[in-house]
Amino acid sequence: MAKIAIVYHSGYGHTKVQAEAVLEGARQVPGIEASLIEAAAIAAEPGAASWATLDAADAIVLGAPTYMAGPSAPFKAFLDASSGRWAEQRWKDKLATGFTNSAGYNGDKLATLQQFALFAMQHGMVWVGLGLLPGNHTSQGSPEDLNRLAGFLGAMAQSNADAPPELAPPASDRATACHLGRRIAEAALRWRSGQVPQRAAA
Ligand SMILES: Cc1cc2nc3c(=O)[nH]c(=O)nc-3n(C[C@H](O)[C@H](O)[C@H](O)COP(=O)(O)O)c2cc1C
Repeated sequence: MAKIAIVYHSGYGHTKVQAEAVLEGARQVPGIEASLIEAAAIAAEPGAASWATLDAADAIVLGAPTYMAGPSAPFKAFLDASSGRWAEQRWKDKLATGFTNSAGYNGDKLATLQQFALFAMQHGMVWVGLGLLPGNHTSQGSPEDLNRLAGFLGAMAQSNADAPPELAPPASDRATACHLGRRIAEAALRWRSGQVPQRAAA
């Protein structure tokens, strides 16, 4: 058994679709307990029950839309609100990964994922990347490909600015997010069952 907490923000519903796809992927792996947490709801609530869910998780998945070349402000508020836990290194050695969605195909999504990875490093966590080759990058490729946006650090999705969350992000990006959920779940099971070798006495 391993626990996955997916903490996310979504201003207009598109990144929520991506978060739900990550959840679906995690739940496809037997022995996983996975849950979604709304970052905005707990950022200003130090006593919120979801903080305990994060503390108990084997892996934390970070997800936010890219706004102005970084994570959206409500999600950044959550990152900042974790600083007490950072001081105690309470999340040290948990696994971490992340996802982001934006209107541009590029849209500076990488900057958001890099911020998530650095955040995880500050917490002493262990980052798990997407683990997929790039899709849609040869003349035989197509926008239907898994990882069509060719991310490596985490799952990327693109949502046309005038499309509702029922249509955007498209199926390929949802499948990529689902893959990320399965990958972090499998990694968490392996991580939890791993033995830490004893250090020889100095
Ligand atoms: C304040 C703001 C800033 C944005 N900045 C970017 C950006 O830097 N790059 C980009 O590609 N899209 C940008 N967008 C578009 C959103 O990333 C896009 O609409 C996304 O699908 C919104 O996700 P959500 O519905 O989960 O909030 C921005 C949108 C808003 C509202």
